Amino acid sequence: MASIVEGREVTTLLEELTTMAGREDPYGHYTRLREMGPLLREDDGTLIVTRFADCTAVSRDHHLGKMPVDLLPHAGLADWAEHPALYGYFTSLLGINPPDHTRLRRLVASSFTARRVRDLRPATTRMIDDLIDDLAARASEGPADFVPAFAFPLPLNVIGELLGIPHADRAQFQHLVQDWSAVLDEITPEVLLKADPAARAVRDYLAGLAAERRRRPREDLMSALVGHEEAGDRLTEDELLTMAGLLFAAGFETTTNLLSNGLAALLEHPSQLPDLHADPAAAVEELLRFDSPVQNIDRTVLEPTTAAGVRLEPGQRIVAYTGAANRDPRRFTDPDRLDLRRGDNASLSFGGGMHYCLGAPMARLEAQIAFPRLFERMPGMRLTDGAQRRNSLTIRGFDHLWITWEP
Ligand code: HEM
Repeated sequence: MASIVEGREVTTLLEELTTMAGREDPYGHYTRLREMGPLLREDDGTLIVTRFADCTAVSRDHHLGKMPVDLLPHAGLADWAEHPALYGYFTSLLGINPPDHTRLRRLVASSFTARRVRDLRPATTRMIDDLIDDLAARASEGPADFVPAFAFPLPLNVIGELLGIPHADRAQFQHLVQDWSAVLDEITPEVLLKADPAARAVRDYLAGLAAERRRRPREDLMSALVGHEEAGDRLTEDELLTMAGLLFAAGFETTTNLLSNGLAALLEHPSQLPDLHADPAAAVEELLRFDSPVQNIDRTVLEPTTAAGVRLEPGQRIVAYTGAANRDPRRFTDPDRLDLRRGDNASLSFGGGMHYCLGAPMARLEAQIAFPRLFERMPGMRLTDGAQRRNSLTIRGFDHLWITWEP
């Protein structure tokens, strides 16, 4: 029977993960945590799994779920419904359990289809080419920051295109979504001070757009969501706005970080660029495994179950460190090596089970077009000083990633 490992070494390693050095490179710490045992306990009682098999099991176990809202007061969040930033999260797909989750996911999945994503390909390619024009112009004059010049605007514009947000309105969302999604990392009064007005502004904007599409439907996802009915069921206005807000927020910060983590990894391994061009889809899977934009997923025990052989009781919180699982040598050969030709590289970067990322096809589409295009148009691009990692444990990416390029 497995046991739970806890104590000073676990605490120290977890604390170090939250320092700037831990942000730079968490993977050494993950290795040590993974080898300490399958199930660890933090000082506050939270359980942690880090191995691939255990993280996969946690993501798929239906006895585990999102924290039910009636437990939120015990987590110090009694007034969650009064905060737009928390309301928009805890009532969204990312915060709910069956049967509500099943119903809402079915309603959105039948509008947000693979076909709709495929149809975005020409517009996405155009946006990528336009952004590369800009990036190349800037980089030819001196170091250019890839994050604001490319990694942010691309997903923002693609999700804007999908939902039907007019081009001129899109830029304002960058800061709004950043301020709002800060609650994914920590919920403090300071964070909420910016997150609440941001969430409210996004919701108000989307309410205006929904009203407009109800009057004059178009081909976009917002029109599909307002008009869609499935077996006599449809989204209420409240559900619709929460759903559209979630697609916006979930769809853009994460993909931004795939683009910046992926570019950094490629520029650090230039000898592998031919493999990127040979098979962009396989390369993007490896980049997702190697340095995932989402490093952990959070669950609460809803009904008695086991994790890593240990019995868990309802109410217990458990976090799966998927970023560590993606480097587990039990699952991947030589896991710390980037190998764009690695065949067997299905990772946990998009999660697993019923909450598996709804936007995975869209994120893949953007990255599979963007990376080869960037290197075709800007061969010889290099990393230069000034890269700065985001200060976040869950979301892994860069605030700044400077590159140089000589035409
Ligand atoms: C590289 C980019 C992305 C990564 C790494 C990523 C990662 C994830 C992960 C790990 C989850 C599961 C969270 C959990 O189990 O608690 C998730 C869920 C979700 N993602 Fe993504 N995501 C990305 C891009 C996108 C995009 C582009 C969209 C939308 C356009 C999107 C929409 C969603 C939604 C709606 C969910 C909730 C699904 C549910 O709970 O049923 N994501 N994502």
